[in-house]
Amino acid sequence: MSKRKTAGKPETPSEAGNSKEIKKQERRDFLKYVGAGAVAAAIGAPVLMSARSCIPNVLYELPVKFKIGKLAQFAEGSTFLREYRLFIFRDGQTLHCISARCTHLGCTVQIAKPKDGTGEFEFHCPCHGSKFKSDGTNYAGPAPRPLDYYKIEVAPDDGQLIVDTGAVVDKSWRLTV
Ligand code: FES
Repeated sequence: MSKRKTAGKPETPSEAGNSKEIKKQERRDFLKYVGAGAVAAAIGAPVLMSARSCIPNVLYELPVKFKIGKLAQFAEGSTFLREYRLFIFRDGQTLHCISARCTHLGCTVQIAKPKDGTGEFEFHCPCHGSKFKSDGTNYAGPAPRPLDYYKIEVAPDDGQLIVDTGAVVDKSWRLTV
């Protein structure tokens, strides 16, 4: 605590020395705080800036529910919708939809046909080698769970198919039109 000069009483030499020492200490403390603040700012600013760069200014997320076209646009077998990262499977009048988003870190899986041309196709992820059976069940690689199945419905206004990625359904779920 600093000693103050009493009004009207001159300081003794020892009091003046103490007062100078206290002022020096206060200056040192002040400079120490300024220095620490400058170091914190120098370290913190780049860290904050690099963290901010990980957050995009604009989110390009697709709507959860969207129209993908009429039934006639989908051939028998599989159709890959690149824009939506979905596979639509058609078997006559029956449809189902499997997400192409790998359940490991979200890369887009691809259909892999058996080399000998027989047997069932699979989904393979090019990023870290996860493999999924034709029903989306994960069986190799780091993927922790099967591919998602999404609900499909028919739009009442124009008959287009609507995929609802907010509605994950069981792998046995089918839409019959
Ligand atoms: S993102 Fe598919 S295996 Fe890693």
